[in-house]
Amino acid sequence: MRVFLGLVALATSCAVAVPSAFKTKEEIYAPRGWVKKTRPAPDHSIALRIGLPQPNFSLLEKQLYEVSDPDHERYGQHLSKEEVEDLVSPHPQSLNAVDEWLAGFGLGEKDLVRSPAKDWVIITVPVSVAEDMLDTKYHVWEHTESGDQLVRTTSYRLPSHLHEHIEVIQPTTMFGRFKGYKSTIYNIEEIPEVTTQQASAKAASFNALSGVTVDPSCNTTVTISCLKQLYNAVGYEASPDPRNSIGITGYLEQFANIQDLQSFYAEQRPDALNSTFDFIPIKGGLNNQTLSEAGAEANLDVQFAFGVSHPIPATFFSTAGRPPFKPDLITTSNTNEPYGDWVDFVLGMKNPPLTISTSYGDDEQTVPEAYARRVCASFAQLGARGVSLLFSSGDNGVGDGNSNPATQKCITNDGKNTTQFIPAFPASCPYVTAVGGTAHIPEVAVSRFFSGGGFSNYFPRPLYQEIAVRKYLKNLPKGTYKGLFNPAGRAYPDVSALSDRYRIWLSGRPVLIGGTSASSPAVAGFVALLNDARFKAHKKSLGFLNPLLYTYGLPGFNDITSGNNAGCGTTGFNATAGWDPVTGLGTPNFFKLKSIVTSPFTIL
Ligand SMILES: *[C@@H]1O[C@H](CO)[C@@H](O)[C@H](O)[C@H]1NC(C)=O
Ligand SMILES: *[C@@H]1O[C@H](CO)[C@@H](O)[C@H](O)[C@H]1NC(C)=O
Ligand SMILES: *[C@@H]1O[C@H](CO)[C@@H](O)[C@H](O)[C@H]1NC(C)=O
Ligand SMILES: *[C@@H]1O[C@H](CO)[C@@H](O)[C@H](O)[C@H]1NC(C)=O
Ligand SMILES: *[C@@H]1O[C@H](CO)[C@@H](O)[C@H](O)[C@H]1NC(C)=O
Ligand SMILES: *[C@@H]1O[C@H](CO)[C@@H](O)[C@H](O)[C@H]1NC(C)=O
Repeated sequence: MRVFLGLVALATSCAVAVPSAFKTKEEIYAPRGWVKKTRPAPDHSIALRIGLPQPNFSLLEKQLYEVSDPDHERYGQHLSKEEVEDLVSPHPQSLNAVDEWLAGFGLGEKDLVRSPAKDWVIITVPVSVAEDMLDTKYHVWEHTESGDQLVRTTSYRLPSHLHEHIEVIQPTTMFGRFKGYKSTIYNIEEIPEVTTQQASAKAASFNALSGVTVDPSCNTTVTISCLKQLYNAVGYEASPDPRNSIGITGYLEQFANIQDLQSFYAEQRPDALNSTFDFIPIKGGLNNQTLSEAGAEANLDVQFAFGVSHPIPATFFSTAGRPPFKPDLITTSNTNEPYGDWVDFVLGMKNPPLTISTSYGDDEQTVPEAYARRVCASFAQLGARGVSLLFSSGDNGVGDGNSNPATQKCITNDGKNTTQFIPAFPASCPYVTAVGGTAHIPEVAVSRFFSGGGFSNYFPRPLYQEIAVRKYLKNLPKGTYKGLFNPAGRAYPDVSALSDRYRIWLSGRPVLIGGTSASSPAVAGFVALLNDARFKAHKKSLGFLNPLLYTYGLPGFNDITSGNNAGCGTTGFNATAGWDPVTGLGTPNFFKLKSIVTSPFTIL
């Protein structure tokens, strides 16, 4: 490190090019709940992720919509990795301008990591160097409620000639904590060991919304067989087709415990016993198989997603570098900026999993808009390549991420301190499928915690949901929540599924767990089964789902019309007939969806 710093000093003093004057690139108000503490140690290392503009992104977006639109002749003709990379690659002038700027700090090609499309450059430098580059001062910030700490700044500047060549640099102003969406209101419930739920068929079964018969135990304990009954998938057998795949993303140093998975399979999916999944660590993601250290989120996601979709090939990604961390330690790999690390890795894969579920996110306003757009644009790249991305919609209804709804302040951090509903990101990204939560049979919107839902303040409403969302808004009494939400924004969730009282195995024992954390992997499991059916019908993977779901897909959902998603001191929105910002289009009916996605769309 000492040698490196010497080089920097030398390079700067010999710099020939006269840099243009610094101009503010981004300036924010720190989100509420964060307190500025000390300065980080000057040699605390920070991995700066520099986003170069993608001048042809609109072409990529156009193609994403073409290959995802069931009425378009290109439907299903997904783009290759190289085609996508060409469409997001920066202009050579931008590459040169950034390279020159970095060279001024002694940083050459060997010090850089580039994304496959070269639209991101990552450099790891001491915080003191980052401060010179960005004409800023970093501080350690602490999140009062959780104690999480981040090294961040509230503004940064760049030489003015670079503004057109650099879209965003992080971590600078991003205060997102990337929390798991496992409800924190509903503590994990210990339960006595009981025999498998499947044995209780003697008790009178009853009808779900879809008219299928469901075991009564499913009203209080959700198992794989409950989901298969309720979502009409009983009897469907998937193949271990090597073309198909499903993935789960893990963060916060969580790993999925294999012994717990086997206990779960023994109880709920005996034919899956002894099967496992590929573990892919990103940036040194942990996989400590110590039973007592298994992650509740990781175990839940893996057990239900892979349990529903068995024997489809499965992958678990564990991305390291999550808060909480110790900002006074001089780490070299801790970027604290997980979306980018994960998405770069997956975009670099030749064959990424075709269905990927993520049960993490945070308040949209804690992720700076320019950065949220870039992350969302990366999700568009995966969609164009035929990957279906599902994200939990969050567990705090229309409210903010404070775990206690009584302390939800729902105040903007735009400096105006306006009271507003607080949407969640990445659920608010228009290129992903956001999954909300239901409970009980017949299903209603979950009320033990509240299904995240609402309207983005960053992303406008995409065309695919125009009809559905406009109908919902038209039926809202005039003036409802005026000023509290952005009626023109991307509305979510798109779909939903049971989210409460899932029976999983954790650290060697069965527990009940809830959250939209459960509904996203459950839906992902069924999407993977739909891809199985597509492959058997000699069709391509489903890819980005929403344009299909809001059109031909509609008859494949059970409409949830009861319940609401309280937050911010209000009762939130109501589940209604048709799409609503609580349960989306509703919960899946697998066999109906299967017949929709395996037939020519025009005759349905
Ligand atoms: C963007 O697309 C245009 C038209 O296809 C092409 O000429 C141009 O080279 C592309 N730009 C980049 C940076 O790839
Ligand atoms: C399921 O549980 C809910 C909530 O306790 C209850 O209202 C509902 O009647 C139950 N459903 C059946 C079919 O018993
Ligand atoms: C799982 O492995 C055990 C031990 O090797 C074996 O006894 C058992 O039959 C296997 N079960 C299945 C379903 O493959
Ligand atoms: C991992 O496992 C070892 C040994 O089983 C244990 O001592 C350690 O604390 C575990 N946790 C981490 C985070 O490494
Ligand atoms: C907004 O709230 C913050 C934190 O409580 C406070 O420091 C600031 O002065 C407030 N701004 C306005 C415009 O009320
Ligand atoms: C939700 O439904 C209740 C009961 O019908 C009604 O009082 C309330 O105004 C509705 N809220 C919204 C946002 O539609």
